[in-house]
Amino acid sequence: MLAIGSDHGGFELKKAVMKHLAERGVEYRDYGTFSDESCDYPDFGEAVGRAVASGECERGIVICGTGIGISIAANKVRGVRCALCGDCYSAQMCREHNDANVLALGARVLGEGLALKIVDTYLDSSFQGGRHARRVAKIMALEDKG
Ligand code: RB5
Repeated sequence: MLAIGSDHGGFELKKAVMKHLAERGVEYRDYGTFSDESCDYPDFGEAVGRAVASGECERGIVICGTGIGISIAANKVRGVRCALCGDCYSAQMCREHNDANVLALGARVLGEGLALKIVDTYLDSSFQGGRHARRVAKIMALEDKG
């Protein structure tokens, strides 16, 4: 199960991503927002982050205008490693090297075609482990250092 959420700035792209996920046969849960009315991106970054951190969903996708605010918010949830990606190489590497469990997209930055390619690359890439696992463990240890 994949968690997805956006603010109003990401609402249209979220709809396109959900359609694409359905076509790919990827099950998802929509954590809002549910209209293009102005709202606050931290609420949806938090909701998706909590869904992933709790294990309710394995991965998440968050979308706002730039992808910046909502990725910062998602990364404040303990256990979340959210990567803002604007290209397919980063989408691949954030899985292979960083084990990113949430992908962030900027709806006002990316065209829909590229955004969907980034989603596909993210979903089709896997964590490589090994030396990367040690580094990811060091990232996660920062959560207890304050
Ligand atoms: C909303 O206008 C905009 O600030 C938001 O979508 C996002 O880009 C914030 O980082």
